[in-house]
Amino acid sequence: MATPFSRLVIASGNHGKIREIAHVLSPLGIEVLPQSQWQVPECPEPYGTFIENALAKARHASQHTGLPALADDSGLCVPALNGAPGVISARYAGPTPANSLLTQDERNNDKLLSDMARISDRRAYFYSVLVLLRHPQDPQPLIADGLWQGEILREFRGSDGFGYDPLFLDQQSGKTVAELPLEIKSQRSHRGQALARLLQQLDRTAN
Ligand code: IMP
Repeated sequence: MATPFSRLVIASGNHGKIREIAHVLSPLGIEVLPQSQWQVPECPEPYGTFIENALAKARHASQHTGLPALADDSGLCVPALNGAPGVISARYAGPTPANSLLTQDERNNDKLLSDMARISDRRAYFYSVLVLLRHPQDPQPLIADGLWQGEILREFRGSDGFGYDPLFLDQQSGKTVAELPLEIKSQRSHRGQALARLLQQLDRTAN
């Protein structure tokens, strides 16, 4: 497929996300560069919607590097919790104390289990929105999203992936996302779907 870029900055410090995006884009000849290579400072994410946060992150990374930038803003939404953790998925349990023995992801998962302890409706979905800015002032960013339906288990299973993967059951395979190979997660996930849609748009704008 034709792509107008050979290099893209990923507006994220999340290694799990960067790995998944690189898994899809690298075989297409797009070099995926983490923004840490430019010491890009963390971008504030003050907004109540995924799209606003994604746009802010992409613009921030493109401004600091001068390169095309791709941002993913994503999260887990649980209807029985009125959509929580939602846009604050990454920091659901609050900031991790310096002396904590648990990672931020582990603390978030523990909070989710405890918040859902008495909830029988276990339905949940992952949502991702991607924003690609070709340059810092790009007035027409490419935008694509994806959604993955599943359910929240009552115990952890699997060790791959990141975030809420060990609690999120993919009903089609009967496995948690942390038990799925990256290849399969990329085909099925919210981020994988959003990337496929973004690539369709890139293909259209390149021709
Ligand atoms: P963001 O960096 O503000 O977009 O927050 C993303 C957060 O949503 C992550 O830190 C995870 O907590 C959660 N999340 C998003 N995508 C996934 C995924 O594919 N697996 C597990 N958790 C995810």
